[in-house]
Amino acid sequence: MKELIDFIKKAVIEISKELKNPDTSYSSTENATGDKQLKLDVKSDLIITDVLSKCKEVKALISEEKDEILNINDKAKFIVAYDPLDGSSLLDVNFSVGSIFAIYEQEANAKNLKAAVYSIYGPRLELVFAYDKVELFRLDKDEQFALVKELKMSQKGKINASGGTQRDWSKTHSDFIKSLFDEGYRLRYSGAMVSDIHQILCKGGGIFSYPATKNAPNGKLRALFEVFPLAFIVQKAGGFTSDGFNDTLLDLTFKDLHATTPCFFGSKYEIDKLKDAYRA
Ligand code: AHG
Ligand code: MN
Ligand code: MN
Repeated sequence: MKELIDFIKKAVIEISKELKNPDTSYSSTENATGDKQLKLDVKSDLIITDVLSKCKEVKALISEEKDEILNINDKAKFIVAYDPLDGSSLLDVNFSVGSIFAIYEQEANAKNLKAAVYSIYGPRLELVFAYDKVELFRLDKDEQFALVKELKMSQKGKINASGGTQRDWSKTHSDFIKSLFDEGYRLRYSGAMVSDIHQILCKGGGIFSYPATKNAPNGKLRALFEVFPLAFIVQKAGGFTSDGFNDTLLDLTFKDLHATTPCFFGSKYEIDKLKDAYRA
């Protein structure tokens, strides 16, 4: 595992350098979910594939930007599922984006999720690693990731971040989000789930939602490389997750590599309230 994390660190340092390149234009291709790919989505995917395929611990790679699984070494232990650039539609406005990695043992399902990592390309390069606990690292002047602190979620937060077009939310979701604002929650939503959840983790609480919508009844966010790794991280930090009905997102199973699910990540208070609202 340590070797694999070192390769991931190498890949994210390379991507952060690539992001200094101002080419935020589109390529001529679409990914498996039908998103138009930016040149930087494609480039980041290539960097991760190149770097991680040299790691002896990697059995296969699953990427948001690849239709199929890429088999590397049948004898190795880990399948890495990743979103090379999360929030890439924000690159043109120079907001923080990140890469998300889920590390599965032998099979890519939530029960086999052993660790998760994400990077944040903001004013600083940061990396969050969850195994038994969740730790925040920052790249220092010597290009080393230095430990900053352990991240822990409190029982209740102040941040309310919900994705999807409001016009297309269900009444249940609209009423739930409004009830949080009525309690004094603040809106904090950038459009990059990794940065929005990073804010909640660093501030110690709150809720991030990406609900089912009229045009996307299974939500937008993809299970294997967006939802499961961030659920693992939030839960290891003492937070909670749900799809509105189940007690954790990590109970869900999917056949399709690019399957999506409604998803909610937050502190205990907000996720309990969400389940009460959705199950009523
Ligand atoms: P990606 O850039 O990997 O396609 O992911 C974007 C995702 C997620 O990061 C974000 O929360 C969501 O899409 C934003 O969607 P809306 O604009 O519908 O809120
Ligand atoms: Mn994404
Ligand atoms: Mn992406």
